[in-house]
Amino acid sequence: MNFHIMTLFPEMIEQSLSTSITGRAKDKGLISFSAINIRDYTNDEKHHKVDDYTYGGGAGMLMQAQPIYDCFQAVKRNIDGGDENNRIRVIYVTPQGQTFNQAMAQDFAKEKDLVFLCGHYEGVDERVLEEIVTDYVSIGDYVLTGGELPAMVMIDAISRLVPGVLSNDESATTESFHNNLLEYPQYSRPEEWMGKKVPAILLSGDHKKVDEWRLEQSIIRTKERRPDLYEKWLAENPPQPPKKKRRKKSTQTSEENS
Ligand code: ADE
Repeated sequence: MNFHIMTLFPEMIEQSLSTSITGRAKDKGLISFSAINIRDYTNDEKHHKVDDYTYGGGAGMLMQAQPIYDCFQAVKRNIDGGDENNRIRVIYVTPQGQTFNQAMAQDFAKEKDLVFLCGHYEGVDERVLEEIVTDYVSIGDYVLTGGELPAMVMIDAISRLVPGVLSNDESATTESFHNNLLEYPQYSRPEEWMGKKVPAILLSGDHKKVDEWRLEQSIIRTKERRPDLYEKWLAENPPQPPKKKRRKKSTQTSEENS
């Protein structure tokens, strides 16, 4: 998976993604990221300006179309098959987008290349968005000063779904949001801490019972903390009617019995 991030602050992206799990995945060649400075593509040779006033008035400056468009053309040239007809997904991170979630992370993780556009100032000239953007995505209903943090949040969530990035493959399937359930509570040593004991079932060695307990805890936790998710889970897992006890077929007639 190759991430291409168009930004005015490439150092912010490079520094944080080079650490921890994403950094290790990059070193292993499982993911790559290149942060491209939009300012390098301005036609304003004197001041290297990338923003200007908004037509119609209003506070703040707007990022101009030309540097972003030219930056994207350069990114496309670096992507294998980028100049062919296959549409590269370009994500504009904006509070006006669809709210990011695990299902979207899974969908994006199927791509070979993803391009992120990080806005700043009061926004971006609409015309370049119409021209290049395929997905408008927000990380929540609040406004940040720029798109770099939201882009990194998404890149982190997507990267960990790339095969091999997590050391334990299983952890990507049993964690929170898988099947619309939150993860069950977990415990490590010691068996007793501050008078609180680890639930006995987890020490029993009975894997079937442990799995049942964990599922039950996941359901309870989701219902309590995220009733919206619980409703989704319930719609996909409606309670089964209790199994009717089958009556044993009698092989003898009543006459034979008498
Ligand atoms: N840019 C500023 N705020 C944002 C948000 N909440 N999500 C995505 N991009 C943003």
